[in-house]
Amino acid sequence: MAITTRPRGTNDILPAKIGIWHKIEDTIRRICHQFGYEEIRTPIFEHTELFERGIGEATDIVEKEMYTFTDRGQRSITLRPEGTAPVVRAFLENKLYGGTLPAKVYYVGPMFRYERPQAGRYRQFNQFGIEALGGADPALDVEMILIPIEVYKAVGLKDFEVQINSIGCPSCRTAYREALKDSLRENIHKFCPSCQSRFDKNPLRILDCKVKECIELTKDVPVLVDYLCTDCSEHFSKVKEYLDALNINYSLNNRLVRGFDYYTRTVFEIISVGLGSQNAVGGGGRYDGLIEEVGGQPHPAVGFAAGLERLVLALENQNMEVADQRTPDCYIAQFGGQTKTEAVKLAYELRQAGLWAEFDYMEKSLRAQMKAADKFGAKFVIVIGEEEIASNQVKVRSMVTGQEELVSLGDIKEYLIGHGGEKDGSMEANS
Ligand code: HAM
Repeated sequence: MAITTRPRGTNDILPAKIGIWHKIEDTIRRICHQFGYEEIRTPIFEHTELFERGIGEATDIVEKEMYTFTDRGQRSITLRPEGTAPVVRAFLENKLYGGTLPAKVYYVGPMFRYERPQAGRYRQFNQFGIEALGGADPALDVEMILIPIEVYKAVGLKDFEVQINSIGCPSCRTAYREALKDSLRENIHKFCPSCQSRFDKNPLRILDCKVKECIELTKDVPVLVDYLCTDCSEHFSKVKEYLDALNINYSLNNRLVRGFDYYTRTVFEIISVGLGSQNAVGGGGRYDGLIEEVGGQPHPAVGFAAGLERLVLALENQNMEVADQRTPDCYIAQFGGQTKTEAVKLAYELRQAGLWAEFDYMEKSLRAQMKAADKFGAKFVIVIGEEEIASNQVKVRSMVTGQEELVSLGDIKEYLIGHGGEKDGSMEANS
């Protein structure tokens, strides 16, 4: 019988590749803490209405990409396609606005979008996101760019590029929308069907179309930054001033509008140069109207999210070794019977001390166990036989130097630690 395969657009992250995920996640936590961001965990599913109100009903995500179902209580539920609207909901529901503002949070976890799968685009993917709620300072917009830059640099990503734009506030955007439509009207029949339907609903998204003809047709349209009101223009100037003061390389992309209705003012994306068509490793922007849209008092806010699968792909493209490089501190070989019981006991004792100990579960011969130790890359092999138990002394062989030493059973823990065993995460220390 054929096996049941995983759903299209999902991935198994196997143990052989988990090392890079741990490294990325550890780096995210460390850098977020340095910038004063605390972790928040929201549910994986929310009421559908949250995303309809938050992301916007005329967006691709809400129109065609959400995993929405009716639960047994007849409620419409949606697997979260992104993390910003849920964080805003949590900010309001838990009255985080009553604490220190801005509330600075980060999250790491799976998101779900019914998209056409391809390299770098999946139906379940992981995002790392940061949000600063209740702050209008352009220095926060800049932090949203600095944090991912620090994370990308720390994990070794090369060749990425920051693109920024300002899409203003609803008042400057109204004037721009009209100017844009005026310039497109005459030729709108020449655009792709999606752009034609965007013309009335969401004309700014036409600037984001990837179809070659549409790009060509929008080459000379008015640009949004020329329509910014004084406040939005000053805000954008400050963002650029801070980025310049920090020597951050960025380019201005006046076609960058992003795919959510909630954005105001600064929007930005980080592009990994070698990734092909799905090359945005992250994106974000300010969303000063969203908290009110979701039912709260108005609070300005800004955020960013990065796709972790795309980051891993970009690192693999650079030929970075993504496998876990750690190896066991020791492999305990034995002859079966009572010696196996001793091995089980010793392994538990060493593991409690924070060491990584391996032994055989498959009734292998001593020779096969030695081979297994080698395959594991164990730093030491300990051989336990009847004689060793009787004398309470075991042979410890360094797999690096080949040197053997007799060590008493009770001293093995100290011996391994003294010889470079990694005593991290000790269960004793945690208990
Ligand atoms: P987004 O641009 O939709 O923004 O997603 C952010 C990142 O998630 C993308 O740049 C990409 O790396 C990754 N991503 C998106 N869709 C997929 C997919 N189908 N497969 C793999 N990776 C994907 C947001 O989600 C906003 N919530 C960001 C934000 C936070 N804005 C303000 N705060």
